[in-house]
Amino acid sequence: MKIIISGSFGHIGSFIIEKLQNDKRFKSITLIDNFQTQRFTSYLKLKKSKFQLIDQNINHLNFKLLNENYDFFIHLAAITNAAESFRIKELIHKNNFGGTKKVVDFCKRKKIPLIFPSSTSVYGKKFSIINSSNNMSNLFAQSPYAKTKIDEEKYIKKKLKKFIILRLGTIVGVSDGMRFHTAVNKFCFQTSLNQPLTIWRKFYHKKRPYLTLNDFYKCFNFIIKNRYFSNETLDVVTKNYTVKEIISFIENFKKTKKKFVNTEILNQNSYEVISDKLINLGIKFDKDIKKDILKTLKLL
Ligand SMILES: NC(=O)c1ccc[n+]([C@@H]2O[C@H](COP(=O)([O-])OP(=O)(O)OC[C@H]3O[C@@H](n4cnc5c(N)ncnc54)[C@H](O)[C@@H]3O)[C@@H](O)[C@H]2O)c1
Repeated sequence: MKIIISGSFGHIGSFIIEKLQNDKRFKSITLIDNFQTQRFTSYLKLKKSKFQLIDQNINHLNFKLLNENYDFFIHLAAITNAAESFRIKELIHKNNFGGTKKVVDFCKRKKIPLIFPSSTSVYGKKFSIINSSNNMSNLFAQSPYAKTKIDEEKYIKKKLKKFIILRLGTIVGVSDGMRFHTAVNKFCFQTSLNQPLTIWRKFYHKKRPYLTLNDFYKCFNFIIKNRYFSNETLDVVTKNYTVKEIISFIENFKKTKKKFVNTEILNQNSYEVISDKLINLGIKFDKDIKKDILKTLKLL
């Protein structure tokens, strides 16, 4: 197979490329990343033979240079800090929607299937449990980042004949390009530095969806193995947890300091998401996220 991965050196991308480098199914892998987050580690570790690197902003890339017959495109390049997106609304839209538009137009022209990672942060009108039968009726963008995801999903559905959209829970787990602004990783990082964890009191007992890197990879593998480009939008979640539960997992390994605040930290609602479609397709999700928390703490 010949494939293209954008955003290849980020939290998810670096996990995938490490797996793919010894996978004989893949003959040639084109990586696009402009290193805007400076995560060079996974690139330095890569066996270069089957990878071609395009070190460019996807918005400025001349797609005519990509002239092979590719089997699919996984588009991970994005600015991904939801909390920060309130401050950089326009930049997020320009970078993320602009990049996705170019990728979609390229996939359409070349008739290449697209795997697009959306986010469960597109949900959350009020407390709700989302499953495949109601996953289009609970949309409520909680940040400019999530609003852009909804716009990108709409564009993909309008333009492409072969795609799969995966609404991912917040990623948990270790990779070379991992980042620490997301919930669990941030708590692990602060705990390892002996810093207090800032917790919005009202949110302490509210649930949100999380996804291990390992479970993401299982879904990715299922899609490419079965060429499951069914033009669907699928929820991908290992399990839903309250902040209290996550902190108690961390405390199994290391003592934390907690600082409760009454001011809302992010415009967050509580909701639970179930990956029922993928489970019905036979994917066995991890039991919980404890192993990933332990690995993250050990790394730190
Ligand atoms: N990590 C999560 O918790 C999570 C949850 C839901 C959805 N997602 C989505 O999955 C995808 C990958 O997430 P991640 O956590 O690996 O992100 P990340 O921030 O760790 O990595 C994104 C990568 O994209 C690159 N990039 C950004 N803009 C670019 C551009 N214009 N041109 C070229 N490269 C560019 C960055 O340099 C970085 O290496 C994103 O679309 C994200 O929104 C992630």
